[in-house]
Amino acid sequence: MNDILPGEVETWQHLEEQARRIFRAYGFAEIRVPVVEKTELFCRSIGETTDIVEKEMYTFSDKSGNSLTLRPEGTAPVMRSFIQNKLHNRDPIAKLYYMGPMFRYERPQKGRYRQFHQIGAEVVGVDDPKIDAQVLAMLVHFFEEVAIPDVELQINSLGCPECRPAFRNLLIDFLQERLESLCEDCQRRYRTNPLRVLDCKAKGCREATLDAPSMLDHLCGGCTGHFAQVRGHLDDLAIPYAVNPRMVRGLDYYTKTTFEVVTGSLGSQNAVAAGGRYDGLVRELGGPPLSGIGFAMGVERLVLMKGEALVQPPRLELFLAAIGDEAARQAFILMSSLQRRGHRAEMDYEGKSLKSQLRRADKLRACHVLILGEDEIARQAALLKDMDAGTQEEIPLAGLEELLLERLRRL
Ligand code: HAM
Repeated sequence: MNDILPGEVETWQHLEEQARRIFRAYGFAEIRVPVVEKTELFCRSIGETTDIVEKEMYTFSDKSGNSLTLRPEGTAPVMRSFIQNKLHNRDPIAKLYYMGPMFRYERPQKGRYRQFHQIGAEVVGVDDPKIDAQVLAMLVHFFEEVAIPDVELQINSLGCPECRPAFRNLLIDFLQERLESLCEDCQRRYRTNPLRVLDCKAKGCREATLDAPSMLDHLCGGCTGHFAQVRGHLDDLAIPYAVNPRMVRGLDYYTKTTFEVVTGSLGSQNAVAAGGRYDGLVRELGGPPLSGIGFAMGVERLVLMKGEALVQPPRLELFLAAIGDEAARQAFILMSSLQRRGHRAEMDYEGKSLKSQLRRADKLRACHVLILGEDEIARQAALLKDMDAGTQEEIPLAGLEELLLERLRRL
């Protein structure tokens, strides 16, 4: 679990601001849900046999003996809230986004943490494949706006309760004949969660499943048509993508369209964003039979990918260097007034020497320094240094604030 410190946090804020701005344009409203939910919510939605539920949840009993879990993802809590607050009665289509911490007890490595942050978006109530393409368009738009390079959008279809069971059985039969080549994990889970084997990183599993049957060849008519239309809409919007028939998501609620935004630059944690359709989830959780689709991006991974292009903290506009009590008093009043008008102004609070005050102005990368010394006060003037141009001018104290506001506006 990481601290996010000044210097890094500016990049986080930038990503969050861009997400808010872009998601708003696509009609999404923010929803904020608690970080803790009943454990049962995640078991029912993500699936009992998934890695997340089997081994990665932070689960505890509260003082009344309820089993609670720190949310490992955002979709289930948002759907719980959607149902509980009957949001479908307000609007038959809900477009919601969220950002915040998620918790998974995974083995930490680059790009994988136990507390991490997601920015996610969900749409409830639209079956039409146009919404799949819209959600992907918004995701791709975000990546373009924040200038994250070298990413590829991969899509797949995982079918529906009509076509997936037959495919599952086919896959189990296929895996059964190759059991001894599979890793220990996959030998254990090939019956309960055979699709996961297709996604296993172990060399033996990869080789053994090279010619495994593909879900895409076993979709029912409805799913085939839906997937073809999603692809058609993506083509209409000129959104590049690759079909990855081996993509299997680590959560059980998915149906039909699934997708990931992957990168080559983060080692094995290569998914920066992921999501898909979950048409049965709202009903499974006790709500009306409404379909859903959404995604979540991993903010830590986005920040890692920004690499050298991190957002710099803003420069200080004005440092007020004052010598003597009366100068410090006047500088303090002036600084406070500039701050109230939204300017980044700073001064020394401890009566340090001019030299040490100027050092601090340098450290804060001040654009301007105003020197108010005893001599200057006696002359009813101050010295304004432009740190980039290397120039300085004496300006009268009368009308000083107006003149400073004029200069700072030009920054
Ligand atoms: P997920 O694939 O489990 O999907 O996570 C989405 C993204 O969160 C990943 O692509 C990755 O960027 C980030 N992420 C996941 N685990 C970690 C971790 N331990 N450390 C750092 N980043 C991580 C979901 O969570 C679904 N709720 C997405 C979704 C929304 N599907 C439909 N709607």
